[in-house]
Amino acid sequence: MSFTIASRLADLPRPATIAMAARARELRGQGADVISLALGQPDFPSPPEAIEAAYAAAKAGDTGYPPIPGQKPLIDAIARKFRRDNALDVTSDRIMVANGGKQIIFNALMASLETGDEVIVPAPYWVSYPLITRMLGGVPVEIRCREENGFRPDPETIRKAITLRTKWLVLNFPNNPTGAILERQDLEAIADVLREAPHVLVMSDEIYEHLTFDGKKHLSLLSVAPDLADRILIVNGMAKAYAMTGWRVGFACGPVPLIQAMVAVQGNSTSGVCTLAQAGSVAALDGDADGIARMLETYERRRGMVVGALQDIPGLTCVMPEGAFYAYPGVAALIGRKSGQGRRLDTDVAFAEALLEEAHVATVPGSAFGYSPYLRLSFAASDAQLAEACRRIARFVSDIQPA
Ligand SMILES: Cc1ncc(COP(=O)(O)O)c(C=O)c1O
Repeated sequence: MSFTIASRLADLPRPATIAMAARARELRGQGADVISLALGQPDFPSPPEAIEAAYAAAKAGDTGYPPIPGQKPLIDAIARKFRRDNALDVTSDRIMVANGGKQIIFNALMASLETGDEVIVPAPYWVSYPLITRMLGGVPVEIRCREENGFRPDPETIRKAITLRTKWLVLNFPNNPTGAILERQDLEAIADVLREAPHVLVMSDEIYEHLTFDGKKHLSLLSVAPDLADRILIVNGMAKAYAMTGWRVGFACGPVPLIQAMVAVQGNSTSGVCTLAQAGSVAALDGDADGIARMLETYERRRGMVVGALQDIPGLTCVMPEGAFYAYPGVAALIGRKSGQGRRLDTDVAFAEALLEEAHVATVPGSAFGYSPYLRLSFAASDAQLAEACRRIARFVSDIQPA
């Protein structure tokens, strides 16, 4: 039998991240000491109380099919979380749990998009928004956030991008990959634009909400614009703040009809989330908030170290990220030149490939986030690895041949 891939997949570009990760593995296999700053994964263990609770749930026989939207103790813990962290009172019929924030996004787009519907995605963006949109027949509409504006979206640009086919506006703050956050006045200006366009839903991906620096606090769009509650879907999850990427637990708060439709999608795909992971998530959400504070302190220290080192490298620019755990240095001044070993650095993909081949540092090129020429470096790695990676990047850049 000859297999033909479905057209909804055949047209999807292969993310540069996958090719980079594969090459990094290959180099490691050949004995190279590759430092990978490519993954968006905390380098901390999951909270011990989560592990204990998952084990206790297994021993207690909590091993049957879960309710599709999520088990009651977790839905209740999520409601408590929204009250505690976001000053939002949310009823349980507005909450659902899925296999990661990613499945929340998939469920929402699957439940709402007709072919040709538009999804406004401010760039730089996390790669999955446009890819899932395209997979489901939608059309991603990219708008550029300017570096001079701290990578925040300009409300006027959002207004101009809205058409009668717009179904969603995606907002992801703190942002992956730039670390930008939105302040109250930014959210108010965006809410004003949304009030003029009552057909547009907003996907507010707040999965990095706890990871904000310089004492700044994340503000949820819903708390700033409660009148838009019937159009805002908050995406969140356990992966980043609780170092629980592998548990695959994400959650959402949204308007009841949308949540019901998302539950219908989930009922026909995964039937819900692993019960043990749900029990662990309850314990983490209700657990020791100092754990997050300690991780944040470490990320903040590493941010200073990495961004400081990158800013000292002639030819690189680097905005200080206000949240998440990524640095997003610009390499525009070096594009078009040749690396020390003679590779042409015509794009940020070529730059990232040469950096991997010659300096053994794996990063993700900005083109993966729809915004070139940049690199994304995760500082969810040890101090020693980060210091060595910065030294290697500095040497790689100083070896670049003059124009
Ligand atoms: C902005 C953003 N949203 C959502 C996710 C999905 O997280 P998960 O599916 O692991 O919960 C990620 C993961 O990298 C992310 O960076």
